[in-house]
Amino acid sequence: VERVGALEVEGRLEQLRRSGVDVLGLTGAPRVQLPEHVIAGARRALSDGEVRVPSRGLPRLREALAARLSEEWARPVDPETQIMVTNGAMQALHVVLHALLPRGAHVLVPAPAFFFSGLLASAGLRPDYVPGRLEEGWSWDLSGMAAAVHPGTRAILLCSPENPTGHVPDEEQVLAVVDLAARNHLLLIADESYERFVYDRPRLASFGGLSSWPETVVVRSMSKSYAISSWRVGFVVAAPALVEACLRVFEWDSIRCSYLSQVVAAEAVGGEQGWMAACVEEYRRNRDLAMDAIPPPLRAARPAGAAFLFMDLQAGDGPRADAAADRLLEMGVPLVPGRHFMAPGYARIPIGGSPDDIRSLGARLAGWLASRSAAVS
Ligand SMILES: Cc1ncc(COP(=O)(O)O)c(C=O)c1O
Repeated sequence: VERVGALEVEGRLEQLRRSGVDVLGLTGAPRVQLPEHVIAGARRALSDGEVRVPSRGLPRLREALAARLSEEWARPVDPETQIMVTNGAMQALHVVLHALLPRGAHVLVPAPAFFFSGLLASAGLRPDYVPGRLEEGWSWDLSGMAAAVHPGTRAILLCSPENPTGHVPDEEQVLAVVDLAARNHLLLIADESYERFVYDRPRLASFGGLSSWPETVVVRSMSKSYAISSWRVGFVVAAPALVEACLRVFEWDSIRCSYLSQVVAAEAVGGEQGWMAACVEEYRRNRDLAMDAIPPPLRAARPAGAAFLFMDLQAGDGPRADAAADRLLEMGVPLVPGRHFMAPGYARIPIGGSPDDIRSLGARLAGWLASRSAAVS
């Protein structure tokens, strides 16, 4: 399989930094000083000695998650049977795809799509991408999805809020996808890693709260919701039989997740939440600044969530637009070219950082446009 696009780019950006390129400090993974109660919990855990942690996850982390989810979704979530902790959402997706789908099955995926391609390939699954349109805010093409179902289709895999497009579905769209899955007996996998990063509505219309289709799996990530990306904690929420099947794949891969990471996660989930609300507020502010900073004719749909602008670079560059993304990258804009998201001609640009970083982004894009028109004339 290919490398994960974002990680390949991370390596390239590090090389560029070393060679003296001023790479903009924009990031899609929130960076926040962890609050004292989380750090204190981790410190205490250091002296706990050898601790036995069940393979499905530290009980107090699962209990804290279940309490939050039960409240968010207004239905009980059982910490014992319906939640499994993983090494990040990436492993959660990997385990779900390996455990719950037969090799050779087809999976419907709205496009542009998150880095699902390698996950699907390694599980022997075949994606059928259904493209959305920038002009419609990258809303899912529900009739296109319905039309794309065929006898080999076994699942729908999607991301909400959507990385890379920033699309956030409303309740009606979520229910329409649930209905499509139920009518066709498809496993429905919703990657809600950016669940907190929702800018224009009070909270995400979550598949976990809205779906009454028992074959619904929700994957979430502590990397985004609690800014602890390097601690590697994510989780799966699903019906007990599905979680049990996932656990069997997970145990042969990892045995269990790190105790220390799960303590940090439990402190974060169980404690006061104001520090993360402030972080989401910064992303919302940057979203507005970034939309104003895009120099025409470049364009992007206004992200309603997640942490990126998904920018159309095709103005004037036509089929060479993905090469244009590579050139912008060399100029220190930390983007991931659209080909990694099944959308050549676009680029994913993160919006986390200072207001100055966002203004510099606008200036770099304008400088790049000017150098291109000079080259053309
Ligand atoms: C949509 C989405 N899914 C999954 C992941 C993986 O998250 P984790 O760091 O928890 O493995 C990410 C992180 O970039 C993401 O943005």
